[in-house]
Amino acid sequence: MVTFILNDETISTGRPSGYSLLDFIRYDMGLTGTKTGCREGDCGACTVLVGTAEGDRVTYISAVSCLMPLVNAHGRHIVTVEGINTDKISTVQQAIVDHSATQCGFCTPGIVMSLTAESLAARKTTPETAVASVSGNICRCTGYKSVEKAAAVIASALSDKQLSDPVSWLVDMGELPAYFLSIAERLSGIPPLPPEPAGARGVGGGTDLMVQKADLLAESEIVTFIDRKGLKGIRDDNGRCIIGAATTISELEHSELLKRQIPDLPSVIQLIASEPVRNMATVGGNIVNASPIGDISVMLLALNADVMITDGRQERTMPLKSLFLAYKKLDMREGEYIRSVVFNCSNDPPLFSFEKVSRRTHLDIASVNSAISLRMNGDTIVECHLSAGGVSPVPLFLNRSSAFLTGRKVTRETLLQANELIQEEISPISDVRGSKEYKRLLLRQLFLAHFLKLFPGRLNLSIDEL
Ligand SMILES: Cc1cc2nc3c(=O)[nH]c(=O)nc-3n(C[C@H](O)[C@H](O)[C@H](O)COP(=O)(O)OP(=O)(O)OC[C@H]3O[C@@H](n4cnc5c(N)ncnc54)[C@H](O)[C@@H]3O)c2cc1C
Ligand code: FES
Ligand code: FES
Repeated sequence: MVTFILNDETISTGRPSGYSLLDFIRYDMGLTGTKTGCREGDCGACTVLVGTAEGDRVTYISAVSCLMPLVNAHGRHIVTVEGINTDKISTVQQAIVDHSATQCGFCTPGIVMSLTAESLAARKTTPETAVASVSGNICRCTGYKSVEKAAAVIASALSDKQLSDPVSWLVDMGELPAYFLSIAERLSGIPPLPPEPAGARGVGGGTDLMVQKADLLAESEIVTFIDRKGLKGIRDDNGRCIIGAATTISELEHSELLKRQIPDLPSVIQLIASEPVRNMATVGGNIVNASPIGDISVMLLALNADVMITDGRQERTMPLKSLFLAYKKLDMREGEYIRSVVFNCSNDPPLFSFEKVSRRTHLDIASVNSAISLRMNGDTIVECHLSAGGVSPVPLFLNRSSAFLTGRKVTRETLLQANELIQEEISPISDVRGSKEYKRLLLRQLFLAHFLKLFPGRLNLSIDEL
């Protein structure tokens, strides 16, 4: 039985653990404030809060309930728009009313929940972070300007937020109902799920699997990787950065350790999905989904990462670049799962760049993406790892091009010669994201963009060459 707290009520359900939280909320519990839109994580109409106990505190994130299997709700606090009611309208709701940021109202509960999650985050809220928090909420009516104005007012109302304990602060301010203060203790009384059924399908955040196999999962018992021991966290182990496979993309975004390695990581990660999807999506899921355009896989290839794979008893480590055998085919055996990814981290990190082109900047998957890491000795490249997505059946490590660049100076001629080699290494196909010729051109441009970004003013490339 999956057990969790839904608003102020502890719920146990015998529904299959792969059943979607959205359907449970609406059709089993009759809480229709949470809306069904796309059922693919794109529209945000189904956004809820997910609270996870950490000691005597509960940390809340926004999540799309359509992609959350019930198993991932076990032992957590799920809050729908009905669950934030107090005897007055909240500042988030009032700002939406005051700025006409609702018209038909279909998207409004999702927007309210995303902004409430931002209020609950243990970090400073600015107008920019408030707007970013609704990056996963699509509205057909308002034109968004009114939502942006409401977000700015909410940010200003949160200027004194107590970052050490936002939940208590919001309760004290009358912004959240008092029952939130009892949740940590109540969650500690929910026992973990019993041992996992052998052979059951495993899920991370569900943001790929629930899109691809929602109907099948709705009737299946599944197991989750997100609560499996040893699969969480980001740490430095003697100069090796170890990222647990169940670490979410949002956790990458906020990691101080990773920001020291890749200073523009937060802005790079803003190019992936939306905030509620990043709050759920895991590193392991991105790799094992094996999409040729998986952004995290492409970044990790350029970081020369290894993957640690286990069957629960024995562990093996292999370079990530060797894991991808063919389209959606991995060098993993039945029963094995990814435990972590590992790469070098140091006080003197390599230069790193990630570039992505998609049909729209946000909430879209790449037509082509690429990442590179470089170590330099003066003008000379002494180590190079170049990767690309969308140009082959797998996320591709560009072996020959990386070797070619190693030992060479960064000049216009070097880059143009390297591009010729890159074009030999890739095999794009025409599809909905562009023709094969367009993808070849895109990768060439992204490759040059890495160097223009990393070596500003150093390259004499004419507009014709770009
Ligand atoms: C709206 C939307 C936008 C998106 N945008 C992007 C984007 O911009 N860029 C991008 O790269 N992706 C994007 N994605 C895809 C997705 O979010 C990512 O691939 C994500 O990292 C998948 O992780 P997950 O934990 O949700 O995977 P899940 O769906 O839980 O799992 C995917 C597969 O991996 C397996 N798996 C999960 N964890 C492990 C593990 N530790 N060991 C072994 N197997 C495992 C599962 O069994 C399953 O087969 C988007 C998805 C949505 C819905
Ligand atoms: S219904 Fe659209 S994101 Fe869930
Ligand atoms: S108010 Fe109608 S979809 Fe947003």
